[in-house]
Amino acid sequence: MRSNKPKPAPELDRDALIRAALDALPNAYAPYSHFTVAAACQMGSGRIYTGVNVENASYPAGTCAERTAIFHAVAEGERVLTAVAIVGGPEYIVEDYCPPCGICRQVMREFADPETCVVILAKSVWDYKEYTLEQLLPESFGPEALE
Ligand code: THU
Repeated sequence: MRSNKPKPAPELDRDALIRAALDALPNAYAPYSHFTVAAACQMGSGRIYTGVNVENASYPAGTCAERTAIFHAVAEGERVLTAVAIVGGPEYIVEDYCPPCGICRQVMREFADPETCVVILAKSVWDYKEYTLEQLLPESFGPEALE
């Protein structure tokens, strides 16, 4: 019999998530802003999906790393975001924490429990800041409002 109980979140390996984001960073495509970003999402299955920012000569057509990573996971059938690590900086150099933009926070919210979803802003595997999505997007509007 299939249970409809929510599955427990997979264990979070912060080191692996941050490394996945750092490994993806060379693929960022940012010839206009020269600000390169990569994200790695851990999804409900435990699998990690990466994404990078992909800019466009028609500037608004570009998209952020976090959204690329989340849409990558959703396209593979995932629906639950449990954690995300973000790295970024000018020309592939990570010299500071790179917080997610407001649109990306809202896209995270679509697939996450804000109280438990972990958002990691990393400079390296040893140097990172960690928040819940609730801290970064309080009083949020989500899919249950439309049920
Ligand atoms: N960017 C991201 O990829 N994620 C964010 O959350 C912040 C901004 C990208 C978008 C654009 O390609 C570049 O950084 C400068 O805004």
